[in-house]
Amino acid sequence: MLSISAEEFLIWKKKQLSKGGDHQSFDVLLDCVGGISRSDINLIAINPRGIIHLKKNLELLESIWDDYLLESCPIQYLCGITFWRDLKLKVTNKVLIPRPETELIVDIVFNIFRKKSEKIFFAELGTGSGAISIALALAYPLSEGVATDIDQDALEIAIKNFIKSSKQSNLKFYCGNWWSPLESLKGKLDLVISNPPYIPRDIYEKLPKEVKNFEPKVALLGGEDGLKHIREIIQKAPLFLKENGWLILENHFDQSEKVKNLLIKNKFTSIEIVKDLSGIGRFTIGRYK
Ligand SMILES: C[S@@+](CC[C@H](N)C(=O)[O-])C[C@H]1O[C@@H](n2cnc3c(N)ncnc32)[C@H](O)[C@@H]1O
Repeated sequence: MLSISAEEFLIWKKKQLSKGGDHQSFDVLLDCVGGISRSDINLIAINPRGIIHLKKNLELLESIWDDYLLESCPIQYLCGITFWRDLKLKVTNKVLIPRPETELIVDIVFNIFRKKSEKIFFAELGTGSGAISIALALAYPLSEGVATDIDQDALEIAIKNFIKSSKQSNLKFYCGNWWSPLESLKGKLDLVISNPPYIPRDIYEKLPKEVKNFEPKVALLGGEDGLKHIREIIQKAPLFLKENGWLILENHFDQSEKVKNLLIKNKFTSIEIVKDLSGIGRFTIGRYK
């Protein structure tokens, strides 16, 4: 541990932020590499005469920040860590950085399955870093979950994240194309969640470079119209869900009506479009019969 005066630290921080970048990314760097949390920073803002303790020196933090500004590489990949809900997750460029808006998926589940003692049998298709499945496995300790992904490298990150976050063994991981690893679970699932790749090709081509050049294409591109994977997931869902089982999907900002129609066509009921905190119809949910 290195100790420096809070005053010196605040001057250094101001200098780094004056070069560019956003406060949120800088906070991730300070927390993940420097070992200084947001609440530590709030405290020194109130008492700038104190001392702060750093896990790494300011030169190292500055060099990571400079790389971030120069390359536009997401700070989470440079630090190897991201924060999502109350989880601290390992991330590499093999997994999508879980987005804050996706955090709401877990709240949607909490609204449907109100008792944390419920024994839900759930599957997440396309787990990436494991964020959603890990949050659910922790919140419902008596439940059983299965998390899948087409990319074995992504699954390995998810497995590491689960082992680090939990002492439980109620989450299993399988590699494969959407439903194919779940053949033995036909008719058994209470809940299926997915945040599949849903970006239409023309929009994918124009994504900001910090996304397009660094995050995995397989996690983002949803075919020509963005709905390729959502269609496949919805069409086969009735085979895997129990009667009255729930399907919860995240979609692109303008896809919810189309996803709703796909659910209706595939005999789902209780269909609802759930808005994210920006008022966008980000999630579409339904119940199979
Ligand atoms: C948008 S990311 C979501 C990751 C994570 N669930 C989250 O919310 O942050 C989509 C994930 O689906 C996976 N994926 C893409 N195509 C797939 C397929 N055909 N079958 C299974 N998983 C797939 C990607 O590897 C990626 O991890």
